[in-house]
Parts: sequence; structure tokens; C-alpha cells
Amino acid sequence: MLHRSTVHLGSLFMALLISVVLAGCGGGVGGGTSGDAAGGATTGVTTATEELRPAPQPPAAPAAPTDAAIRNLLAQANVAPLAAPATDANKVALGRALMFDKILSGNRNVSCATCHHTTFHTGDALSLSIGVGGIGLGPTRVQGVGQRGQGTLPFIARNAPDVFNRGQAQWRTMFWDSRVSGAPGNFTTPAGNQLPAGLDNVLAVQAMFPVTSRAEMRGEDGDRDVFGNVNELAQIADNNLPAIWAALTARLLANAEYRALFAAAYPTVPTNQLGFQHAANAIAAFEIASFTGFNSPFDRYVAGDNNVLNAAEKRGAGQFFGAARCSQCHNGSLLTDQNVHNIGTPQIGPGHSPEAPEDFGRGAVTGNVNDRYRFRTPPLRNVALTAPYFHDGAFVTLAGAVRHYDNPPASLANYNQNQLDPRLVGTFLNSGAVIAAISAGIDPRVRNINLNNQEVADLVAFLQSLTDPRFVDMSGLRPDRVPSGLPVD
Ligand code: HEC
Ligand code: HEC
Repeated sequence: MLHRSTVHLGSLFMALLISVVLAGCGGGVGGGTSGDAAGGATTGVTTATEELRPAPQPPAAPAAPTDAAIRNLLAQANVAPLAAPATDANKVALGRALMFDKILSGNRNVSCATCHHTTFHTGDALSLSIGVGGIGLGPTRVQGVGQRGQGTLPFIARNAPDVFNRGQAQWRTMFWDSRVSGAPGNFTTPAGNQLPAGLDNVLAVQAMFPVTSRAEMRGEDGDRDVFGNVNELAQIADNNLPAIWAALTARLLANAEYRALFAAAYPTVPTNQLGFQHAANAIAAFEIASFTGFNSPFDRYVAGDNNVLNAAEKRGAGQFFGAARCSQCHNGSLLTDQNVHNIGTPQIGPGHSPEAPEDFGRGAVTGNVNDRYRFRTPPLRNVALTAPYFHDGAFVTLAGAVRHYDNPPASLANYNQNQLDPRLVGTFLNSGAVIAAISAGIDPRVRNINLNNQEVADLVAFLQSLTDPRFVDMSGLRPDRVPSGLPVD
């Protein structure tokens, strides 16, 4: 208790000091909330603060908003505590094997975990992923060489997102361009009516697609797998998704250990009625069981504990849900509106077919010019663990991503590509026409935010408070072996 009251009086002293500083500087973006905190703190404590006067401090930071003010902002942004969905242990066991097993890739050398690895907190720590033929893991992964004289294979067009908390019932979009969306019974996907029935949730639907992508997992027609055998998955026509899923299911069911895992996960489904949707449901169950967590300081604050965030984190929360307008889009319990927006992200990398070297984002899905350069608002749990940031990893630090919001059009025009992996330096699309086209569509909510250094630092502190300590070291989730016997990344 002594400790607590000391901290309390110390912060009262800071609040007093700051009310003086703020009175002279005109406040800036954070001025309004700071005034509240200082005002509430001045009652009857003068003697105590003088006795406890701390050692001289560096220039005073603004006071944090009151908890009442923050809680009011949280309510306005519809942030409520999250709850863990139930999962079936047998599905989780099957899904864990599948997530790490390179058997799901045409040439048997890429698993889901290659790009969504526990070492890299469900991402790959690259700005842009490296798929088929790549060697190594994480930032040291190198691009493969095409088997039929294509030379070095390109990067994947986009950044591998984290997979945290994607099993929450609120989810109805997947991918940076939301090309997979909907809810059971009514999914919208690139597969149209080829999508099988029986998928549990939008996360399971997502898992149907990486295996069909030639660049991510399937490989090119004519490729041979790591054993020198024909890659039968790559021989199938791109538009025949059911044949790809059937061939994959046949691969899995040829393995006795997978047959046993499927039988345990789906005891009422006869083997001849198993399809890749059952694998996808199991992968989703594993992702939900393993990557769901809300024991971050922020989540504990939302659940009611006022003492778990420090002053910088509370100032950052005040900015995030208040003056800096972040929660105009990063709102709700998942901190995303799941809508698509153009925030002026610099475009780097090979670009997205067929509009490469540009990436139109949602515009490529809908064909609507107004949707160009719009990407889905990402959720932000554990964001401090999952650099680089944005759909193409254009910003490699969290502070860099936050600073972008100070003035997105200027950040875009003056983007420093030297921060990138050397292999991507030189790929920034800095043509005047592209920058003008992106700039013209930037969402008004991210114009003129104007963040000073203090506000950037506080926002970063707040974003760091979204880290659940259980995800700092995720190594226990990685299996030592998988049923195929292929090496585990
Ligand atoms: C070669 C790297 C790579 C592989 C392999 C890969 N992914 Fe991804 N994953 C990505 C990239 C890149 C994206 C974003 C693509 C986009 O939005 O267009 C993504 C998106 C996702 C998302 C969407 C998250 C969100 O919020 O929108 C999930 C979930 C996911 N992957 C899970 C998986 C699973 C499960 C597998 C295996 C079946 C897999 N991935 C294989 C790179 C990869
Ligand atoms: C107009 C809606 C909107 C507003 C307002 C907004 N964001 Fe975002 N945010 C997005 C979108 C969309 C992306 C993804 C952009 C992309 O991929 O190109 C994003 C991405 C991010 C990322 C990167 C996350 C990742 O996993 O890559 C961070 C961090 C972030 N926003 C923080 C903030 C902060 C801090 C603020 C307030 C200063 C803010 N955002 C305001 C829509 C918004």
C-alpha cells in the first residue's frame, strides 16, 4: 500500500507541474484531456507533494487523461472485453500438424508456418513474404530459383499478417483486401460456388486459399518436389480449385498418421467424405486455440484494472481513442472496423497481379476505382511483436508506422526506402503519377492529425501495451515433428 500511495502522490506532483507547463504552450492535440487530469489532482495535496518532491526530471510529459475520460472514450469506440472461443482438442491436434507440415505445398517445402511462424509471432518478420522455393526462415529467408529457368522468384506482393485472435466471433473479413468475407452459410470468396460447404468460420475459409496459390505454396506446372517426384498439385488448372483441394486431401489421407488424426477429429465423417474443408476447419481450430489471448495490459485495463497502464500508455490511449482519431477505424474490441481505407501507404515490392507493379488492394477485388489503394484496417493486438507494418511492410518499426500518421501525404511523398531489406530497396513506386493517385484518395480521417514527438512516443507506448506476455515466447507451440516426416521450420 505504501508503494501505491507513493506512486499516486508522485503522479499528482507531475500533474501539478504539467498544468503549469500546458497553460503556457497552448495544449496541442492532447491539451483537452490533460487539463481534466490536472484539475482533478489539485485538491488538498500541496503539503504532501512538497514533502515528496522528487529529483529534478527531464522536460515534463503531459498529464495522462483520467481513467474516467479513457473509459468514456473506450465506450465510444465500442471496446469491450474479449472472450476465448471453445475449440475441440482433436481438431486442434490435427490443425497443429497441418499448420507446420510442408506436405501442404506442391513441392513439399513450404508450410503455413513458414510464413506464420511461432518464432516470429505468427508472421515472418519480412516486409514481403517469400513463398515457393525459398530457403530459410524469417528475415534470413532467401528467394528460390525457378525450376524451369525463371531465375530468382519474386517476393509475394504482400506482408504476411499476424494471426492473433482471428477466431473471435466478430471476424467477417480475411486478407488485406477482404477478398474472403462473410459468415457461415454466406461466405464471399474468390472461389465463388466452388467453395465447399461445412466451413466453420471465416478463418477456416481463409485456410482454403494459400494452398491454391502457385507463388505461396503450390508451385508451377512442371515443378518437381523435394524428392524429385512430379508436383501433382501444380499440374491442376488454376480455376479448378475443387481438384486442387481433392488432390491435397488424397495426399494427406495416404498417410496413416493423418488418417488417424482425421478420424479422431471427425469421428462421424466417413473417410471417403473427408475434404480439404475438414483440414481447413482443423487449421482454424489450432490457430484459435494457440493464437488467442487477451491478457495484455490493455485488455486488463479494459476488464477494469485502472493500475495496469502507466502514464505514457494512458496518454497514448487518450490520443488513440481521442484527438489522434485512430479509433475512427481501429475501433471495436478487435481494434478494427474491418473496413478498407486508403491511408497513403507507400507501395513497394513487385506489386499485385494484374496491376503490378502497383497494388490496388480492394480496388482489384471490386474493380471500383474509388477502392484503389484501400486495405483492410488491421487489428492491433501484439502489434509490437509483428514488424514490419502495413500491407507491404513499408515501415519496419512501430514508431515509423505511427509517425506516418503525422501527415500521410508527406510521409508517402518523402518515404525513405533505405529502411527496407536491401533486396527491396529500389522497389518504392515513387513516380509522381502513382503518388498523386494514392494521395488523392487518402481518407480524410488521417489527414491533418499532426503528431508531435511526445504524441508519437505515447502512441507507441500504448500500442506496446497491447502485447499479451504469453506471446513473447511462442516456441512451445511448434511441434518437433509432423506426420509427413518432412523437416519442420
Ligand atoms: C508464402 C507465405 C505464406 C504462406 C505459406 C501462408 N501464408 Fe498466410 N498469408 C500470407 C500473406 C502474404 C497474407 C496476406 C495476403 C493478402 O492479404 O493478400 C496471408 C494472410 C493470411 C491470413 C489472413 C489474416 C487476416 O487477418 O486477414 C491468415 C489467417 C493466414 N494467412 C493463414 C495461413 C494459413 C492457415 C496458411 C497455410 C494453409 C498460410 N497462411 C500460408 C503469407 C503466407
Ligand atoms: C482511416 C482509417 C484509419 C485511421 C484513422 C487509422 N488507421 Fe491505422 N490502419 C488503417 C489501415 C487501412 C491500415 C492498413 C494500411 C495498409 O496496409 O496499407 C492501418 C494500419 C495500421 C498499423 C499497422 C498494423 C499492422 O499490423 O501492419 C498501425 C500500427 C496503425 N494502423 C496504427 C494507427 C494509429 C496509431 C492511428 C492513429 C494515429 C491509426 N492507425 C489511424 C486504418 C486507419
